[in-house]
Amino acid sequence: MSELNLILLGPPGSGKGTQGERLQDDFRLPYYATGDILRAAVRDGTELGETAKEFMDRGDLVPDEVIIGVIGERVEAPDAADGFILDGFPRTVGQAEALGAEMDELGRGVTAVVLFDVDDDEVVRRLGGRRTCVKNGHIFHVEFDPPKHEGVCDICGSRLIVRDDDKPDVIRNRLDQYHEKTKPLVSYYSDQGLLKRVDGKLEPEEVGNRIRALLATLKMEEEL
Ligand code: AP5
Repeated sequence: MSELNLILLGPPGSGKGTQGERLQDDFRLPYYATGDILRAAVRDGTELGETAKEFMDRGDLVPDEVIIGVIGERVEAPDAADGFILDGFPRTVGQAEALGAEMDELGRGVTAVVLFDVDDDEVVRRLGGRRTCVKNGHIFHVEFDPPKHEGVCDICGSRLIVRDDDKPDVIRNRLDQYHEKTKPLVSYYSDQGLLKRVDGKLEPEEVGNRIRALLATLKMEEEL
């Protein structure tokens, strides 16, 4: 494929970050997860972090004008010239329109939008058991993907924590925000012929295999 500009779309806890880590290894493309970028900004006490924190703590989306510039800069950077993987952006129609306008300006386009289909009950189960590495954001689950040593990241040895926004009332609000503001992107990208659905309830390994298979099909179609 000439370039791979991929968007991972889905409700909180649907497995975007889990698959994003794997795809990044497979394709050697820059991976931009807006949640990780914002959490790092909060940790570092930057102006972006200070603005974002109150929204994130409540489970609300940060305003479009705050996040659009953050991703815009990265998409235009030289290391994203062969493509990129976006996780958690766009999350509103306004963000999708801004990304589309920027891609047009650069003479590029979105290759595909992978939608992780997972219902709300499964989201609550997953986020309740998620453990995240404090340093690099590596993801585990106490039941579905437990670390070898409790509380310690298998990959970098950092401490594993429960994210502040993985508390039950915040999870509920994040789901409400998803249904109200992000779900309209399903028809937005479907109308553009870019949406590819994946059953996010399958085992992580199988979800990864299906994404790789659909990307291989896209590559074959491009070569025809
Ligand atoms: P963000 O960090 O992006 O949160 P999210 O979209 O709610 O996504 P999550 O990270 O919670 O879930 P995920 O889909 O990555 O699932 P994961 O792989 O971890 O955003 C946080 C906040 O930042 C937002 O609330 C907002 O305030 C702000 N923000 C970010 N982007 C923004 C934007 N564009 N605009 C405005 N505001 C923005 O998996 C979850 C768990 O399930 C893990 O424990 C994992 O081990 C397990 N698991 C994964 N796959 C499977 C499977 N197939 N089977 C069983 N278990 C699985």
